[in-house]
Amino acid sequence: MCGIVGYIGDKQAYPILINGLKRLEYRGYDSAGVALLNGKVDVYKCKGKVADLEDFIGKKPIDSKIGIAHTRWATHGEPNNVNAHPHYSQNNDLAIIHNGIIENYASIKKELINRGYVFESDTDSEVLIYLIEDIQKNEQVNLFEAVRIALNQVIGAYAIVIVSKHEPNLLVAARKGSPLVIGVGKGEYFLASDASPIIEYTKHVVYLEDEDVALIKKDEPLVVKTVKNKDKTPYVQELELNINQLEKGGFEHFMLKEIYEQPKSIRDSFRGRLNLEQNLISMGGMIEYEHKLKNAKRIIIIACGTSWHAGLVGEYLFEDLARIPVEVEYASEFRYRNPVLSEDDIVIAISQSGETADTLAAIELAKSKGATIFGVCNVVGSSIARATHAGAFTHAGPEIGVASTKAFTAQVTVLTLMALHLAQSRGTISTTRFHEIITELNIIPEKVEKTLKTSSQVKEIAERFKDVANFLYLGRGYNFPVALEGALKLKEISYIHAEGYPAAEMKHGPIALIDEDMPVVFIATNRGTYEKVVSNIMEVKARKGKIIAIVTEGDTEVKELADYVIEIPETEEMLVPLLATIPLQKLSYHIAVKRGCNVDQPRNLAKSVTVE
Ligand code: G6P
Repeated sequence: MCGIVGYIGDKQAYPILINGLKRLEYRGYDSAGVALLNGKVDVYKCKGKVADLEDFIGKKPIDSKIGIAHTRWATHGEPNNVNAHPHYSQNNDLAIIHNGIIENYASIKKELINRGYVFESDTDSEVLIYLIEDIQKNEQVNLFEAVRIALNQVIGAYAIVIVSKHEPNLLVAARKGSPLVIGVGKGEYFLASDASPIIEYTKHVVYLEDEDVALIKKDEPLVVKTVKNKDKTPYVQELELNINQLEKGGFEHFMLKEIYEQPKSIRDSFRGRLNLEQNLISMGGMIEYEHKLKNAKRIIIIACGTSWHAGLVGEYLFEDLARIPVEVEYASEFRYRNPVLSEDDIVIAISQSGETADTLAAIELAKSKGATIFGVCNVVGSSIARATHAGAFTHAGPEIGVASTKAFTAQVTVLTLMALHLAQSRGTISTTRFHEIITELNIIPEKVEKTLKTSSQVKEIAERFKDVANFLYLGRGYNFPVALEGALKLKEISYIHAEGYPAAEMKHGPIALIDEDMPVVFIATNRGTYEKVVSNIMEVKARKGKIIAIVTEGDTEVKELADYVIEIPETEEMLVPLLATIPLQKLSYHIAVKRGCNVDQPRNLAKSVTVE
């Protein structure tokens, strides 16, 4: 969602800005623009993709060593040329790029209109730059001060970068609630919403904190203050990211690459944590809060989207293994309820990006009520990783495809480790059983590898069903969240309506939809409830629905009934989600490709949802 790039230094800014925008395309956007400083501020922007912006700029003057650029995901005002960023101030002396939402923009706008300002766009961002210009004019302060004063008047979330015609040797940036990273080069600075546009130039970065305002001048040290005017010392960190992780590496799409990376990303997520010889799991992040975690009366999992589905698998795991009651909440609902929380509660916040606005707000709410917050994040240095008391990173590596794949299986892996560790410390699992499960977890990457190879018939299934209007996904127990995730993947990237349901609930509604045109995906690997799932399959068959079944290798009964069968290796029931998800990811991928959809950047979706 909204991407920010900025540059100041001795190099030509334009290519750096355009490359940076391309690196951020994965976040999801609908228009793009740049502002370049060269005696005056030149803003070029248009609806569409970064490539459209390049075409639009064509041979226009781009000579500049300082500039800002933006990809916009529409909130206030439709995606069009005028609402695209950057936005000029009224007299075109300043330009701003903004990610986030200024909630009180309407009242500020009214006030500025009364004072004679004329607005061009429908955006809240334009209001902010007009306000900054107004402050500069009235209070005779420099840009940095004007920005700082203005930010004291706004309510909401922002990551902003501003250029000024009158102060051509600097950029001013600030953040609250939306991410902003500053890359520190030799006499030059790079700004971006995340580190991906920066990594090819420098590994040294400063993550701005909420309410930080930064003054960025080439050849000079970074100056950071809070909006309340307190001096801060910027903390320079070294990135672990590697540029190859941001390339497609021979795959047609990032999503496909990421699906195939899962043997590695799962292994990376348990590497160094799972100790077969000593029969234990050690997770650094759990040590400090070991006592609290062990004695938790309840675990509340908060997340959005795919991460919420991982949370549902977590619910089964924690209850099954560690015998702790678990509630799984959509962060967006949790934050606006009046949830009952106590100091004995553990809140686990799951987020790939670590920037999801609703999850972040839910964390702050839970913190204010005294709960201990444990983060399961993929992005190191992200807002959620920093807002939690403790946590464990999922070492999935950068996930670029908007539809989450390897991040999901990495989250499930980390939750499995946590549940097992808690089970051991609470004495709810025998030593032998613990050993059996961790031994199996240790070889899961090989089974994922096998699943990736053996699910080749997925392409044939995709061809057969690529033109249907609806899909139903059914599963029970650990496979219920898998069904939800399978359905989400399909609708996200192929735009086919798909629903996931607990298999037994089918008779309370979805069964009415079943006819000869309706494909139903059954995840039918369960041991305990196998026969019951078979009955559900019969019910669909009796109504002429088309059955696609994910089964365990060697299955015979479901094979007889299903129209299409995909086998996955046998494993522990609780580890099945790590395997059963794979063919469903591939199915949605191939259907989307066959329908000609933009797999990595599906319409309307954003990778990192930084607005609520
Ligand atoms: C967006 C993404 C999803 C993701 C969800 C939660 O909707 O498109 O793939 O699952 O946000 O994101 P998070 O980064 O918090 O896991």
